[in-house]
Amino acid sequence: MRFYMPVRLFDEEECVKKHAAEIAAFGKKALIVTGKSSAFRNGSFEDVSGVLKDAGIGYELFSEVEENPSTDTVFKAKELFAEAGIDFVIGIGGGSPMDAAKAIALVLKHPEADIDYLYDKTKDPSALPVICIPTSCGTGSEVTGISVLTRHDKKTKISMVHMVFPTMSLVDGKYIRSASKSLIVNSAVDALAHMFESALNAKTDAYVHMTVSAGLKQWIKIKGVLTGEREASEEDRRLLMRASTLAGMSIAGCGTALPHALSYILTYDLGLPHGRAVGYFLPSFMAAAPQEQRDVLLKAAGFADVAELKAFLDTVFGRQEVPENVLAKTFEAVKHNTAKMNGVVFPVDENILHGIVYG
Ligand SMILES: [Fe+2]
Repeated sequence: MRFYMPVRLFDEEECVKKHAAEIAAFGKKALIVTGKSSAFRNGSFEDVSGVLKDAGIGYELFSEVEENPSTDTVFKAKELFAEAGIDFVIGIGGGSPMDAAKAIALVLKHPEADIDYLYDKTKDPSALPVICIPTSCGTGSEVTGISVLTRHDKKTKISMVHMVFPTMSLVDGKYIRSASKSLIVNSAVDALAHMFESALNAKTDAYVHMTVSAGLKQWIKIKGVLTGEREASEEDRRLLMRASTLAGMSIAGCGTALPHALSYILTYDLGLPHGRAVGYFLPSFMAAAPQEQRDVLLKAAGFADVAELKAFLDTVFGRQEVPENVLAKTFEAVKHNTAKMNGVVFPVDENILHGIVYG
């Protein structure tokens, strides 16, 4: 067993400003990587750029990261900033900008890198230092080395093979104050899936269970916000962010499982948000899991059984229909993926996979 979480993590109010000196110590010039707009609305870009300006650190801004960022976007940033003397990369946003920031930090370190570099295990995985500042509450990218990228040449999303952990991450609930309800729900369901899938991952261990258990204790308290029973308070936002970060640590320990593997084609073909696509397969995945483990996890998240989980997801997302041809394509893609088929604590054959895909 091992517990590898090499991220200097600060989870506290105003942590960007409080740790300004540590941010400034990363170098003389930063590349700030964001999505198109949210970092400029929620105050995170203002905080980060203010800290850099006050410390006399220069920065460039790349604000073109799209949802489900593509390798094309990563190489566009490389083209723009390869000669800019960047010392470190700051990813601000949800999973998309943070994942893109990791890949950009890798390719800026290696001028020769092309798309194959991202998927070649024999290549040097070292990257420029990365700071992550999450402004959503689901991906956990701030504590993982994972960078999931869209490959238009393969028409799906695939994680880069290299692990690029942030050197430092700054987690502050205030950055989700202006987040939409749908972003919160999508992110929180993604976080829930991270915890369930890592607990049921073939590589799970006592340390993964430690972070899952701690994360679910936070997550259960904010269910009422997700179902619309009450408005989110500052405390709820802190709990959401913390649940997401603990869920991220869980997948950093052992990776995700079948719902994530199955979700990528739904996102690519139907444009479903990541949390919603993963949530589609979560009830049937839990139904396939051994009863004892399933019951412990569901209870820890406040669900009496799989039907209650399904009802919760229908409430927060509305009922989701997926065309038969997309399900068939998903089934075909994953049934040949032996790593994913063997990647859970219970045996999965084609019949069981069929049950998970078709519900
Ligand atoms: Fe996820």
